[in-house]
Parts: sequence; structure tokens; C-alpha cells
Amino acid sequence: MPTRLHDIDACVFDAYGTLFDFNSAARAAQDELGPDWQKLSDLWRLKQLQYTWLRGLAGHHAEFWQVTGDALDFALATLKIERPGLRQRLMDLYLELGTYPEVPAMLQALKARGMKLAILSNGSPSMLAAVVAHSGLDGVFDAVLSVEEVGVFKPHPAVYGLAATRLALPPARICFLSSNGWDAYSAKAFGFRVLWCNRFGQAPERIPATPDGEIADLSALPDRIAR
Ligand code: LAC
Repeated sequence: MPTRLHDIDACVFDAYGTLFDFNSAARAAQDELGPDWQKLSDLWRLKQLQYTWLRGLAGHHAEFWQVTGDALDFALATLKIERPGLRQRLMDLYLELGTYPEVPAMLQALKARGMKLAILSNGSPSMLAAVVAHSGLDGVFDAVLSVEEVGVFKPHPAVYGLAATRLALPPARICFLSSNGWDAYSAKAFGFRVLWCNRFGQAPERIPATPDGEIADLSALPDRIAR
């Protein structure tokens, strides 16, 4: 039986890949992309993250909406996909990403226990507002926090610090959840308690700090934390 994390007052969730399925955009455009949709989705995501790190290192911050569009352009050009209107369609779909099936019930279970709930994401404020509204999760979160408040992408410690400040809690009272290994490890290095939601069965990262535990999806979360 895996151990529970005790003395947790808030759960802070990464957005893309953790609550919302970034693959659902390209999957929904399969009629145009054909069997290449997964290749396009993988490259789009990979490049999107690379651009956040490159922009952070170079001091060239831009909103995640721009980075997401730039990464899509790169992926479409690499795979030589040229179709009128497709770029716009995929960007529109990014505002309506699917929610992983276990998410709504898991959030309600935590909320019923008095747990504070927040999102902490690279996403631009308008992107996050759109995807939260689309998922029907309006009003569930105590805070939807975008890196735009600090002007730098994850994993800069200022991003994780934003959640602790805005929730007015010490990092050790916050459980951070991300499906992105690098995000989970970096949040642990900052000082959060962390469960890595390892949806994609990824190998352990080789960067500082190790999450307190691992779950395969978020349905396991309510049993793994206690106030
Ligand atoms: C986010 C990306 C990292 O939501 O998934 O911040």
C-alpha cells in the first residue's frame, strides 16, 4: 500500500498533459491529418516545450499562445503538411482540449474534503480560461495561475513560488501534480510535495530532486493525500 502524504492543504495541478489532453487537438483533426496525426501531435508538443526552455534561457519570453503557434508551424513544416485553414483549426482546437476522464470526479472529491485547488501552468491566461470553461470546471479552482504573472516559463523557481504566494501556504503544505517528469522533479526541487502523474510511463528524470511518489493517473490522488 503506497504511503499517503499528510498535512496537505492544497493541490496544484499542471494543465497540459495533466488535466487536459494536448493530443486531443490533432486527434480531432484526423480527418485532415490521417495517420500522421500522432506524429504531428508529438512534434508539436516537443517543440512547444523546447521553445519555452530556449526562450527562458535566452531571456526572450513570449506568451505560450505564440510559442504554441510557432511550434505548430515548425511541426507542420517538418512533416510537409500544407492545408488551407488547418493551422487555425488546430489552434482553435487547443482552446477546447479534452479533459482526462478521471479529472472532474477527482476534483470534486478533493473539494468536498476542503482541499484548496489550483492550476499552475505555462498557458496564457486566455488559453487557460478557455480550456477550463470548455471542460465545465469553472468555479472548481481557487486559483488558475499563469506564468504570465512572473514573465518566465517553468521550471523557473519563480513560477512555483507564485503558487505558494497566491495560496498563502508554505510549499510543504502543497501537493503538486504534473504528468511532465521535468515539471514534477523541478517542483520537488523548489520545495513542494509532489506526486508525478506518470500517464505516459516515462523513465525517471536525471535532474535534481525526486518526487515523493508516482501515480498512473489522477484517480489515485484522493487516496494518496490527507489534510
Ligand atoms: C503546463 C505545461 C508544462 O501546463 O504542460 O504548464
